Amino acid sequence: MTKKIIIAIDGYSSTGKSTVARQLAKALGYIYVDTGAMYRAVTLYAMEQGFVGPSHFDQEALENCLSLINIRFEVSKETGFAEVVLNNTNVEKKIRTLEVSRLVSPVAAVSKVRRKLVEQQQLMGKDRGIVMDGRDIGTVVFPNAELKLFMTATAKDRAERRYKELLDRGEDVTYEDVLKNVVNRDHIDSTRKDSPLRKAEDAVMIDNSNLTLVEQFDQILEIAKGAINKA
Ligand code: DC
Repeated sequence: MTKKIIIAIDGYSSTGKSTVARQLAKALGYIYVDTGAMYRAVTLYAMEQGFVGPSHFDQEALENCLSLINIRFEVSKETGFAEVVLNNTNVEKKIRTLEVSRLVSPVAAVSKVRRKLVEQQQLMGKDRGIVMDGRDIGTVVFPNAELKLFMTATAKDRAERRYKELLDRGEDVTYEDVLKNVVNRDHIDSTRKDSPLRKAEDAVMIDNSNLTLVEQFDQILEIAKGAINKA
C-alpha cells in the first residue's frame, strides 16, 4: 500500500488554494480541510455576538468565549464537499460573504484563536492522507509535511476571480472593494506577529497568474505523486 502523506497548501487570499486542494484530495482519496473556513466561522461567531464590526473589535470578549465555539465539517449530500458547521448550524454560505472577509484577518491575528484552531487542525491530520490549505500550514501546523505548496498570483488576477465568485453568489459588490479587501488581507496576514503568512523554505512556489485550472492541477498532481513515491 502506498504511504499516505500530508500536503500543506499555503498562499495569498484568492489564489485558488481551495479549488486545487479539493481536486487533489479527490484524486488521491485524501481528506480536504479548508482552514480559512475555520477562521471565517470564528469571525462569524464574533460578529453574531457583537464582538467585532466595521469599527470595533472586543478581542477579550472573544477570547473569553472561545470554549463555547465548536467548529466541525460535514459532507454535503448535494455537493459532496465538506461544509463548515458552527455550533451545530451549517454556516457554509454565511462565512463566504465580503463582510466576513473584511473582518476575518484581525480575528485570525489573535493568538488564542490560532492556538485553538491549530490544535484541532493537527488532530485532523494525525492519520495523514490529508490536504490542508491556509496561511500557516507548512510553517506552523505541519512543519514536517511531506509536500508543501505556496500559491501566488497577482492581486489583480486574484481580485477578478473573487469578484466573479461573489457576483455569481448574488452579492452586491464592486471590483474596487474586492481588490481593496484582497490587498488589505494580504497585508494583515503577512505582517501579523503570530504565524505570519510566509513561504516555508521547502515549499514549492506555484504562480498561477497565467495557468488555467487544468494546467495548474496537472502540474500539482505530478508534484504530489512524486512526493508520495518518495515518502
Ligand atoms: O483562505 P481564506 O481566504 O478563506 O482565509 C480567510 C482568512 O483566514 C485569511 O485572510 C487569513 C486567515 N487564515 C489564517 O490566518 N490562517 C489559516 N491557516 C487560514 C486562514
